[in-house]
Amino acid sequence: MSYIPKEYWLERGKVYKQEFRYNKKFMLQEQILVEYLRKNISFSTVLEVGCGFGRITKIILSNFPEVTEYVAVDLSPDQIENARNYVMGSDKRGVLKFIVSDIQSLEMNLKYDLVIAPEVLLHILPSEIKEVLVKMVGWSRRNVVNIDWYEDVTPRKAAPHNFIHKYEKIYHDIPGVVEVIRTPIVKKGLLSGIDTKQSIFHVVIKNE
Ligand SMILES: C[S@@+](CC[C@H](N)C(=O)[O-])C[C@H]1O[C@@H](n2cnc3c(N)ncnc32)[C@H](O)[C@@H]1O
Repeated sequence: MSYIPKEYWLERGKVYKQEFRYNKKFMLQEQILVEYLRKNISFSTVLEVGCGFGRITKIILSNFPEVTEYVAVDLSPDQIENARNYVMGSDKRGVLKFIVSDIQSLEMNLKYDLVIAPEVLLHILPSEIKEVLVKMVGWSRRNVVNIDWYEDVTPRKAAPHNFIHKYEKIYHDIPGVVEVIRTPIVKKGLLSGIDTKQSIFHVVIKNE
């Protein structure tokens, strides 16, 4: 099967929410993300790219009442419609705006304290990932976070729409990037251990 990203995600967006099954890996991912943000990043404005039906949008808005502006972007109009409904009750302060666009053609004039992409960049073609990361760094005042599948060695069988990118190396080649911190999303425990095979990548950008 050949993967044509925009076509694939426009189609998938029509059924994504109804097919989504919440599980303990998502629960762990969300818990570690909230803990990580709380401990390490101070922010009041957020740009989220690839927001889907608003799973992480809702979690950030509910856990960080100090947020004064939140822009959530997705290329799928169906996903944005889902997100509007899903997040509605969590945006009590009216800080949330939605944009239908792919990251590649998105133009933003403002910079945000936090630019976040949860489970999106793994779906970007290897030929486009550098361009996308450059844009995300350019939109941020200080912090970029992406959550993605990461293993040191790519398994032989990967779905055509999933890629492991060398995030740390690519970010380090972008001017202004000071530090990249990778936090694997795992829970240790002999019987209750969970390995999501995902990591949080936190990029710190030089203050202007
Ligand atoms: C796996 S879903 C993740 C959704 C959400 N971030 C979450 O974690 O629940 C990937 C989302 O990224 C969006 N997406 C994929 N490529 C994109 C791109 N180039 N620009 C904007 N959105 C994109 C898809 O439409 C989809 O909603």
